[in-house]
Amino acid sequence: MDSLLITGGRSLKGEIAISGAKNAALPLLCAALLTRDVLTLTHVPHLNDIGTMLKLLAQMGVKVQRTAGDLMGSGDVVTLDASGLDSVVAPYEMVKTMRAAILVLGPLVARAGEARVSLPGGCAIGARPVDQHIKGLLAMGAEVAVEHGYVHAQSPRLKGARLFTDMVTVTGTENLMMAACLADGETVIENAAREPEVVDLANCLVAMGARISGAGTDVIRIQGVSSLHGATHRVMPDRIETGTYLCAAAASGGEIRLTDTSSAYLDAVIDKLMDAGCDITMERDAIRLKAPERLTAVSIRTSPYPAFPTDMQAQFMAINAVANGTSVIRETIFENRFMHAVELTRLGADIRIDGNTAVVNGKRKLDGAIVMATDLRASAGLVIAGLVAEGETRIERIYHLDRGYDGLERKLAALGADVRREK
Ligand code: UD1
Repeated sequence: MDSLLITGGRSLKGEIAISGAKNAALPLLCAALLTRDVLTLTHVPHLNDIGTMLKLLAQMGVKVQRTAGDLMGSGDVVTLDASGLDSVVAPYEMVKTMRAAILVLGPLVARAGEARVSLPGGCAIGARPVDQHIKGLLAMGAEVAVEHGYVHAQSPRLKGARLFTDMVTVTGTENLMMAACLADGETVIENAAREPEVVDLANCLVAMGARISGAGTDVIRIQGVSSLHGATHRVMPDRIETGTYLCAAAASGGEIRLTDTSSAYLDAVIDKLMDAGCDITMERDAIRLKAPERLTAVSIRTSPYPAFPTDMQAQFMAINAVANGTSVIRETIFENRFMHAVELTRLGADIRIDGNTAVVNGKRKLDGAIVMATDLRASAGLVIAGLVAEGETRIERIYHLDRGYDGLERKLAALGADVRREK
């Protein structure tokens, strides 16, 4: 298994391009199942999760072409042709490595009348059930059975319905929105996720002929149509990758410019970085950050968009570990998302956990050590800590990072970090 070796102490300086968003690209790839025509996606990030999703779609009979973009972050071009769809099964082996595979459920039932998708099971950050996805399909008239670890859903044609989810769920909203595109009549999703990735998916679906309004608010209305057609869509920039590099620059006392991105979806994160003392300038498609000599600790509470994202919690724990003062971090989305705290304490951080609350006392310095990546964003927090720790930090199990950060070492090296991968 690969490790990442970081020798800390260098300030990040320079400019890099941000890749397309993983969490936008994954549902967009599944949208291809909704049509017999070709869907072309551009600016697709080069990530293992994308590879897994393409493999899953190919296994269902979707013709997939992936053309690699240049190394400067232009992203891949992916064309998907689901005219020969011949399987409606998403097997356990694939779903267990990537929960987002559940996103094939809605499109398959809507277009093929049937889906058999493995239950994702637990993952490192919590139980993460899919009951809301199922509840929505049932309300739309599907017959759903959970048997042998699989969700088996069937419906000759889904019916439009009023859907209410018990909590805000991002992939739940996306799954039901895709299903509703081909349903008979109007579907209203209440308590819908407002995440920008939901809006990006809705924009692509509209380009494919869907009739959707309200995406980006908590009530989404979809008028079902009988079929969708092909389209070309550019994946939105990755706001979490953007936020991660901003944090890395902030913690290391650096000054960076991130291009091909937007500050529009990052208000909560930028606000906190400014509170921490960073000087941030927003340009049209770029963001500049200049770090203070030492950051001030900032407290955060994770919540659904537009509040502070859970996917940025670990990175903020890392910057608070070296900031001046004490901060309180509350995680309200996932029940077990503090595994990085234990690893950060191996680097000398002072963090106390009580349930879903972490109290971080900022220290002037951290010391390099061997740490283990436990999930995608936890790993990003460890990278940031490694960049500021004295001496060498070895991060093991970095396959998590390869799931979600396109060209991580290349981008960090371009910003002057001393980082290398060891096979
Ligand atoms: C998505 C993101 C992930 C992010 C998360 C929260 C993708 C591919 N992944 O994950 O990076 O961390 O949103 O912003 O977009 N829940 C249920 N039942 C359900 C669905 C969800 O109980 O049927 C719970 C979950 O366990 C969790 C909460 O609702 O506690 C929110 O989860 P959800 O928004 O669904 O997360 P994902 O869509 O899996």
